[in-house]
Amino acid sequence: MTGQTIELVGVTKTFPGADRPAVAPLDLTFAAGEITALIGPSGCGKTTTLRMVNRLIEPTAGAITIDGVDVRDRPVTELRRDIGYVIQQIGLFPHRTIAQNIATVPSLKGWPKARIAERVEELADLVGIEPAMLTRYPSELSGGQQQRVGVARALAADPPVLLMDEPFGAVDPIVRGRLQQELRTLQDRLHKTIVLVTHDLDEAITLGDKVAVLDVGGIVEQFATPDDLLAAPASGLVADFLGRDRSIRRLALSTVADLDLVPPDLAPPEGDRPPGDAVVTPATTLREALDVILTASTPAATVVDDDGTTIGTVTLDAIREGLAR
Ligand SMILES: Nc1ncnc2c1ncn2[C@@H]1O[C@H](COP(=O)(O)OP(=O)(O)OP(=O)(O)O)[C@@H](O)[C@H]1O
Ligand SMILES: [Mg+2]
Repeated sequence: MTGQTIELVGVTKTFPGADRPAVAPLDLTFAAGEITALIGPSGCGKTTTLRMVNRLIEPTAGAITIDGVDVRDRPVTELRRDIGYVIQQIGLFPHRTIAQNIATVPSLKGWPKARIAERVEELADLVGIEPAMLTRYPSELSGGQQQRVGVARALAADPPVLLMDEPFGAVDPIVRGRLQQELRTLQDRLHKTIVLVTHDLDEAITLGDKVAVLDVGGIVEQFATPDDLLAAPASGLVADFLGRDRSIRRLALSTVADLDLVPPDLAPPEGDRPPGDAVVTPATTLREALDVILTASTPAATVVDDDGTTIGTVTLDAIREGLAR
């Protein structure tokens, strides 16, 4: 099922006994079919915000609607079955096998056995869990493997909304990259509404259609597209958070195809041409193109398309202009 819009209006949470709110009055819209990344320092209220959407925590004030329906007007069990949730601490059921864990919501929804079995296999394959692992128990898997099962479980019944709380925190960088890629590909096909909490800035900007930077107390410092965020941080806190390499990070968001290339007939004369090793394709990110140019120590790289035809050159100036857009 494709995504639904989640709207938070004046949502506040003050935990009993706390002297100030964990989440200040928060107004945020998670647009249908988009990934919104929530990022910010530890304790700034990211998990609390997610848990108010599926009513694991009730707000002190304010309202949350999904496609215009107040979450409080829906039976809580039904609400949660329509929201995939990947929790920070993985939270698999220890006495159920991996297959049973993945099948949790389809079973609750009363799917026929054969359909559940098929779905479990499909998801295990998707997240890279070998069939032999399906009969094991969570304690017999590594932390990263458990985390992948958590993602599979959240996706099992094809919910329109997915809440993911640091879903890839426990997996190694290579697997993390693969899972991020898979999530993006899946999302381009399924158009769910995904709220993704992460500590990883690269994850937020590569996966997020929008990024919300929160500060302690659940205060939104900036809510913007990754490109706008990196191009124009709204405050010193955001700029600090993005780090001094934000322009480099921003280059990763555009590809050579986004530039106006110097056509081949206007390319530099033979002697000034970059040597053969400085070659990029239209799909190369500007960050990689910069690296290719610096590594080859040339003023420009040749752009070749998929058939190997030279279609232009990309220069350092062109990359800089790409950032100025
Ligand atoms: N059940 C609770 N009772 C009291 N205080 C809580 C409770 N849950 C969270 N808090 C407090 O609310 C604040 C926000 O917590 P939350 O878990 O939302 O942070 P977070 O942004 O997810 O942090 P992290 O990045 O470390 O996971 C923290 O100060 C935390 O101590
Ligand atoms: Mg948290």
